[in-house]
Amino acid sequence: MEQQIQKKRIFSGIQPTGNLTLGNYIGALRNFNLLQDEYDCLYSIVDMHAMTVRQNPAELRKACLRTMSIFLASGLDPQKNIIYFQSQVPQHAELAWILNCFTYMGELQRMTQFKDKAAKHADNINAGLFTYPVLMAADILLYQTDLVPIGEDQRQHLELCRDVGQRFNAVYGDVFTIPEGYFPKVGARVMSLQEPTRKMSKSDPEDTYIAILDKPEIIRKKLRRAVTDCENRVVYDPEKQPGVANLMSILSALSGMSMDAITAEYDGKGYGIFKDAVADAVIAALEPIQKRYDEISADKAYLQEVLQSGAERASNIAHRTMLKVRKKIGYAPFKL
Ligand code: AMP
Ligand code: TRP
Repeated sequence: MEQQIQKKRIFSGIQPTGNLTLGNYIGALRNFNLLQDEYDCLYSIVDMHAMTVRQNPAELRKACLRTMSIFLASGLDPQKNIIYFQSQVPQHAELAWILNCFTYMGELQRMTQFKDKAAKHADNINAGLFTYPVLMAADILLYQTDLVPIGEDQRQHLELCRDVGQRFNAVYGDVFTIPEGYFPKVGARVMSLQEPTRKMSKSDPEDTYIAILDKPEIIRKKLRRAVTDCENRVVYDPEKQPGVANLMSILSALSGMSMDAITAEYDGKGYGIFKDAVADAVIAALEPIQKRYDEISADKAYLQEVLQSGAERASNIAHRTMLKVRKKIGYAPFKL
């Protein structure tokens, strides 16, 4: 008899705000493609988290659809993966409230992202910003997630999720799976084009990142202006030449060339030629995605169908967890 092996579950959330960057592609999206057969994957476009900063409603709606279209365009199969909008599965809000009651003020006060964001948005330090990590914990625990692919900056939030999940389980029995971080082996950390010691981020100024949807001329221009140094060498030395090292790792990630091969090919030819080669590789990787993006984003009926089915499938899993949670904590039973 054929044995059904339960695949491990992966959950990740992505903010719909800002432009997805080459960093998101190399560090996340591209890897998601490699996971779709081996794992049971959910990707949530976290529009509820986006509410912690003021949003223009029409813009937010567009940004969510844009993010969804980029996910699909970069090759994620909506049958194999569940891709959905967080706000369309109300159980996220329901569980977040309950977990709020299992999270201490002191824990949230220690979150470095809260401190950073509070400093950045001093005029709007709302309670949502403070409890943001609790909503994130709810996202993850709601789906009995085994693995969470995250960047370094989200490690502290994942730790909090584990602590809160364990605290809840200690009181009520094994309700939640306690997740682990998933840090893919492939995929370099892409750094800012202007400040190569910082990670490339979609919330930084335009000229510091390459957006997945940037047109070829723009990509070439941004790369030509990328910070290098005056050594004029193409050798991999992230300490001494972080700008060059960053461009080399982008080229390596996209072309499969080793650092040594890149040095052999481009060292001594000047940065102009090297930067053009990086631009060629980035354009070659992004152009097919952009083409599919144009098709997908024009097909509103298809997008609607993917969204509807994603929300329904996510909701089914979330519902099962919430039945358990509601019963354990003592909410009275009722029929929906
Ligand atoms: P963020 O854009 O910070 O919300 O990150 C979403 C996902 O993209 C995370 O899983 C990160 O690991 C990945 N990511 C974001 N920026 C980069 C980058 N510059 N280099 C590599 N991976 C990145
Ligand atoms: N906070 C994450 C970020 O800013 C996004 C996110 C929300 C998330 N919920 C999540 C990531 C659950 C992983 C799992 O990048």
